[in-house]
Amino acid sequence: MTETLAGIAKAMVQDGQGILAADESTGTIKKRFDQIGVENTEENRRAYREMLFTADEAMKNYVSGVILYDETLRQSAKSGRTFVEIMKASGSVPGIKVDMGAKPLAGFPGEKVTEGLDGLRERLKEYYELGARFAKWRAVIDIAEGLPTRGALAANAHALARYATLCQEAGIVPIVEPEVIMDGPNSGHTIERCYEVTELALNMVFDELFAQRVDLTGMVLKPNMVVPGQKGPQVQAETVAEMTIACLKATVPPAVPGIAFLSGGQSDEAATEHLAIMNKIGGFPWKMTFSYGRALQQAALKAWGGREENVPAAQAAFTHRARMNGRAATGTWSP
Ligand code: 13P
Repeated sequence: MTETLAGIAKAMVQDGQGILAADESTGTIKKRFDQIGVENTEENRRAYREMLFTADEAMKNYVSGVILYDETLRQSAKSGRTFVEIMKASGSVPGIKVDMGAKPLAGFPGEKVTEGLDGLRERLKEYYELGARFAKWRAVIDIAEGLPTRGALAANAHALARYATLCQEAGIVPIVEPEVIMDGPNSGHTIERCYEVTELALNMVFDELFAQRVDLTGMVLKPNMVVPGQKGPQVQAETVAEMTIACLKATVPPAVPGIAFLSGGQSDEAATEHLAIMNKIGGFPWKMTFSYGRALQQAALKAWGGREENVPAAQAAFTHRARMNGRAATGTWSP
């Protein structure tokens, strides 16, 4: 594996592969485990991640990188091999979530800013030594009456850019993730509104990345797709694909090697279908692939149910979704 930033970024978005987002914090994985009635212990978290990372066929053929949480980056399989060793052996780049979460932004009721810049240089140094070669920082942008504001978008764009430069200084590829949230209570949350907010957010992010001297060839963008809110008027999958491509073409410089979408609460099938249609349409300068959390894991989590004997069934469910998304990434998937 080449170790330049551009080389790592290219490996992350290589043909027919994408990223497994398995970086749920201890609080978030509790929500997932609650759905299947599994207790949120360190051992259960470890066993669940071992099930995913030892699904050889999926990991070798469809997963170019895995985003981990701090605890997981330090864990090992039952065999004694570290998760990092297992990933490297299957050709997947280990990555790490480094933000400390979205907190209420002072002066901006209803809006959040992602924290975690203090001490980040030192943490990145340790993560590099532990084997991480890319990182993730997620900004959260809610759509509501009069929101988001430019003030909150600017605060988040600035933090993303500061984070990205620190990563590159440490030899780590930053995944830059400004997520416009799709699950709001607002019936006025149309696909047009999502387009408008995503366009503004991405323009402000790329302004800041330039100002903070981020090397665009050594990063990966992780945006939301342009979709209506869950309570807003729904549209055809083709419309999502066309409007997402248009929005990204209007905002993302061609020097960026790849775009790896979040699934953001879309169903497994919708997340695959949208990505597949976009790659079938083609005609854009970047690789377009997945960096899914829920849309890759939901079926596997259910099949696993916290039981050792269900590991083969859970791995089969994970492998199926990984294969479908791998095909979507090359535009060869069909329903
Ligand atoms: P989802 O695909 O479940 O949205 O998670 C991706 C992710 O990493 C969000 O930060």
